[in-house]
Amino acid sequence: MCGIVGYIGSRPVYPLLVEGLKRLEYRGYDSAGVAICDTTARIYKCSGKIRDLEASVSGKDTQGTAGIGHTRWATHGKPNDVNAHPHVSGNGHFILVHNGIIENYSVLKAKLQDRGYTFKSETDTEVLVNLIEYIYLKGKTEAEVAVRLALTKVAGTYGIVVICNDEPGQLIAARRSSPLVIGIGAGEYFIASDTSPLAGQVQSVIYMNDDDVAIIKRNELVLKTLATDEPRIKLHNLNIDTGEFDKGGYDHYMLKEIFEQPVSITNTFRGRLLPDKNEIRLGGLFHVMPRLQEAGRIIIVACGTSWHAGLIGEYLIEDLARIPVEVEYASEFRYRNPVVGPGDVVIAISQSGETADTLAAVRLAREAGALVLGICNVTGSSLSRETDAGVYTHAGFEIGVASTKAFTAQVTVLIMTALLLGYKKGSLTKEQYASFIGELDSIPASIEKILADNEFYLNLAKEFKDFPSFIFLGRGYCFPVALEGALKLKEISYIHAEGYPAAEMKHGPIALMDENMPVVVLALKDKSYDKIISNLQEIKARKARIIAIVNEGDTLVPDIADRVISIPAGSVIFSALLAVIPMQLIAYHISVMRGCDVDQPRNLAKSVTVE
Ligand code: F6R
Repeated sequence: MCGIVGYIGSRPVYPLLVEGLKRLEYRGYDSAGVAICDTTARIYKCSGKIRDLEASVSGKDTQGTAGIGHTRWATHGKPNDVNAHPHVSGNGHFILVHNGIIENYSVLKAKLQDRGYTFKSETDTEVLVNLIEYIYLKGKTEAEVAVRLALTKVAGTYGIVVICNDEPGQLIAARRSSPLVIGIGAGEYFIASDTSPLAGQVQSVIYMNDDDVAIIKRNELVLKTLATDEPRIKLHNLNIDTGEFDKGGYDHYMLKEIFEQPVSITNTFRGRLLPDKNEIRLGGLFHVMPRLQEAGRIIIVACGTSWHAGLIGEYLIEDLARIPVEVEYASEFRYRNPVVGPGDVVIAISQSGETADTLAAVRLAREAGALVLGICNVTGSSLSRETDAGVYTHAGFEIGVASTKAFTAQVTVLIMTALLLGYKKGSLTKEQYASFIGELDSIPASIEKILADNEFYLNLAKEFKDFPSFIFLGRGYCFPVALEGALKLKEISYIHAEGYPAAEMKHGPIALMDENMPVVVLALKDKSYDKIISNLQEIKARKARIIAIVNEGDTLVPDIADRVISIPAGSVIFSALLAVIPMQLIAYHISVMRGCDVDQPRNLAKSVTVE
């Protein structure tokens, strides 16, 4: 949450900051600001999005070749002009942008107030910039020393970039739990919350670790830690196609990402799923496979949509590989004193690889001696660096805040993992294994078929867009899909929606059923098909409006449901990959018709780097 970008070099900084912030806007879009600071600093900031910032800066002096920028997801204080970053210290010596939360800010603020500091904003960030200045002036020290000392007094999380007006030509960056990556060019450096602003600008990057401090000048980069002056520099190549940041002719990133799924899933299994050889190769898990096979238990930790993928993972791994699996919200796992130890394997799933709760769960599990694996989309992210091994989903940059292609990529990795484990453990025969491999290979073509009916979903959305509440029901593999369908609808259209296991309906939600309640029911041909038919009858008896998702060729459900969506038939283990697509499309079209901001829904941010 919150995006940071900084640049120092010889190019005009303002366009670089604005372009960088646009790519980071998915991290928060409550307010935005820049500071351009070659000699005298100029700060421009306002509430709203980057386009509002651009409008407010139009015609003003933006000359300069060094600066910092920020796009905010509000934690402390309303999203207004004053609370927008950058923040300036009371005597004007320091300018700072921050991603994270200073948890002891109120104690620090009171101490600074006792020493004469006053505060303009309600933010924790203004406390930090004043603390740095206080130490700087009192200790008559260098900016870098003041920053490092101030950070030792801070509890909480931060990714910061600091400018000292007395030491122009230098950016000071530091991180604890909030990501920062340095881009290295010829005589120029970038710093950003992720690699997206660096794509097309530099070829080499350094991912900062916790407690790293970087002193960045035009021709010099010095990396230290809070505690020592020891440099620790590991360069990584950056190879991102800048075309990923275009909408590619679609009205929204979300629609583009929905339509990309046949390709993104293919990219997920490319080189890993080998139908000609009846093989699955997961290089990232190669060395840990023996331990994974012997695991007494697997615990999956994740948040949001990734947690839904985790639930599907539980069904898959228990079903195909017969290893017990528990799925936990990372936020609960980390605080509830879980029983976890060396016999366990923990799989953390995260699109961004930066979700604070998921990372905390990973650290807890590693300290307890578990083998910790990651399933992650963003290369170089904290998750990928903090786990023992893992699998990248390779879905490409997901920019729409609502997760779509990352979810299907995660499920694809989980299917391959469960199949491989099942085969190696002998719970799947060679024939079953080969047949599932062939079927997974054909999933992208089946998704193409569903996407070809986009017009149908548009019409369905027209019919249902004004209902205030929806229920989504499914059984077995389709239960997590029902949860995901409800989450997609509520987060982008602001319609209340709940997902339930279909059989649980009778234990409460059935009280809500009447002619004003649309119920989306996943009624695929699996072992609970007969039961779901009974559930459909129960819903119909309460006059609720049924939208059923069925397999092609279903003859029973069309007689019961008000609207029927047909998806290609196939093995139940692939249900999620197909059944989620209509739900994504319905949520998308309803959101557009209701005039909502599809790609940047209110109050949300894509990368939740605070608790
Ligand atoms: C919903 C959504 C969120 C994320 C959640 C976890 O569409 O995107 O629920 O799934 O914030 O994010 P990651 O996967 O980055 O850990």
